[in-house]
Amino acid sequence: MKNLLIIYHSQSGNTQQLADQVLAGCRDEANVESRLLGAFDAGLKDLRWADGLLLGTPENFGTMSGALKDFFDRTYYPAEPNKLNLPYGIFISAGNDGSGAVREIQRIAKGYTLRIISEPLIAKGEINAEHLRLAREFGLAMAAGLDLGIF
Ligand SMILES: Cc1cc2nc3c(=O)[nH]c(=O)nc-3n(C[C@H](O)[C@H](O)[C@H](O)COP(=O)(O)O)c2cc1C
Repeated sequence: MKNLLIIYHSQSGNTQQLADQVLAGCRDEANVESRLLGAFDAGLKDLRWADGLLLGTPENFGTMSGALKDFFDRTYYPAEPNKLNLPYGIFISAGNDGSGAVREIQRIAKGYTLRIISEPLIAKGEINAEHLRLAREFGLAMAAGLDLGIF
C-alpha cells in the first residue's frame, strides 16, 4: 500500500477548499493511504512516510505562503541524507496568476530531490465548482498513478 501526503497552507480558506477536494480524490483510490497536513504541522517524519507528495498554497506576494516556505526551511537539510526522490504535484489558489509560487516551489523541490509528475493545478480567482472538480481529479490522478507504479 502506497502513502500519499498532502501538505498545504491556507489563510482565508481557498486553498483549504482545494485541499479538501484533493484529499477526497486521493481517497477515491482505495489502495492508497492519504493524509492531509497543514504546512506548519508537517515535518521530516511525514516526508519519510510518504511515497508521493501534493503541495498546496496560495500565491502570496508572487511566491508560496510563508507556511509552506517554513516547511521547506525546516526539512531541507534534515531530508538531504534520505535522498527522497518522491513524485510530487502542486496546487495553487491565486488572485490572478500563480506562476511565481509554482516557479519557487519547483526550484526548491529540485534540491530534495522531488520529481514533478503533472502540470500544476492553478485555481485563479474565486474558487468555483470547476476548480473543485479539477482538484478532486488531481488528487485521484496522483493516487491512481502511485498505485499503478507509474510514478
Ligand atoms: C498578502 C497577500 C498577498 C497576495 N499576493 C498575491 C500574488 O502575488 N499573486 C496572486 O495571484 N494573488 C495574491 N494574493 C491573493 C491570494 O493568492 C488569493 O486570495 C488566494 O485565494 C488566497 O488563498 P487562501 O484563502 O488559501 O489563503 C495575495 C493575498 C494576500 C493576502
